Amino acid sequence: AQDKRESLFIVTNWAGKFFRETLWENEEGRTIGLNYFKERGYREDIIRKFELGYSPEAWTALYDRAKAEGHKDEFLETAGLIIRKDDGSVYDRFRGRVMFPIHNLTGRILGFGGRTLKTDKKSPKYVNSPESEVYHKSDVLYGLYFAKKPILDADNCYLVEGYADVLSMHQAGVENVVASSGTSLTIGQIRLISRYTKHVTILYDGDEAGIKASLRGTDMLLEEGLDVKVLLFPDGNDPDSYVQRYGSAAFKQYIAEHQQDFIFYKTHVLLRDAGNDPIKRAEVIHEVVASIALIPDAIKASIFVRECSSLLEIEERLLISELNKIRIGQA
Ligand code: UTP
Ligand code: MN
Ligand code: MN
Ligand code: MN
Ligand code: MN
Repeated sequence: AQDKRESLFIVTNWAGKFFRETLWENEEGRTIGLNYFKERGYREDIIRKFELGYSPEAWTALYDRAKAEGHKDEFLETAGLIIRKDDGSVYDRFRGRVMFPIHNLTGRILGFGGRTLKTDKKSPKYVNSPESEVYHKSDVLYGLYFAKKPILDADNCYLVEGYADVLSMHQAGVENVVASSGTSLTIGQIRLISRYTKHVTILYDGDEAGIKASLRGTDMLLEEGLDVKVLLFPDGNDPDSYVQRYGSAAFKQYIAEHQQDFIFYKTHVLLRDAGNDPIKRAEVIHEVVASIALIPDAIKASIFVRECSSLLEIEERLLISELNKIRIGQA
């Protein structure tokens, strides 16, 4: 099994080099892939640091090169680099896409996300490597290899949705950042973060999906005993689009001024939907208390009860009795 894992590592890292070389040295790679990254505003040092690449449009460009260099079908297929058809023939999974390698904690490549360059809605925006013996999506955070030390230094981790967000934040000089990469946040990912810090700031996209994911992520982080702040970007922006549109200084100022304690965030988001309807407002209070009830530390929980009491203008003892009811229900 160890040999198999090592063989998979060898092909994924070989493929990383193939995509990289294609981006920088191949005519199609340079004119399409490198040009795409530059048009998005990424600097060369960032493109190199994250080992970005390009997969040619041809059906078997990677496969042909792999065979010529002696790689076995078995490992190419298990690593998800090629797909086998019913008739036994094979083709490359990633074609005509810009490639984001996903690194493990020691900087080896586990898999890839490949972004389409097409603007039609027919092909999926990102194609990702499948699960394998070396790539367990639920235990991987994109960018963690580059963020480990910055997270320790800052004693804080920014959590974003996507690959592009990680890149643009590094480019803006904010390096303590990882992405859950679309999959909703998992316990495995939270435990990875908590090896480096207990303080997380969620910077999800300012759309409905981002809001939903941020509320769910908040509860999971609280339950694992982490401190959570949240910030949403305005008008459908994400961290990447904000950095590219307004620049690094404006970005840093925005995140410094707009991050909120989860309790203010959650209350604000839910109350906005509730309007003046008293029944809906009561539901908001229940939901906010339910989040507080997830916090393992009783002292922290009691501080949030007090905040919640002044925020919602509800007597503290009512909130405490509600909290205790939920706690007893959980036990
Ligand atoms: P988004 O839809 O927010 O994409 O998905 P993005 O990161 O802003 O991408 P750009 O800026 O258009 O390039 C967030 C993340 O969800 C995963 C990817 O990891 C993406 O970065 N995702 C999204 C997929 O895996 N597949 C998809 O089809 C879409
Ligand atoms: Mn601390
Ligand atoms: Mn999104
Ligand atoms: Mn996004
Ligand atoms: Mn984006």
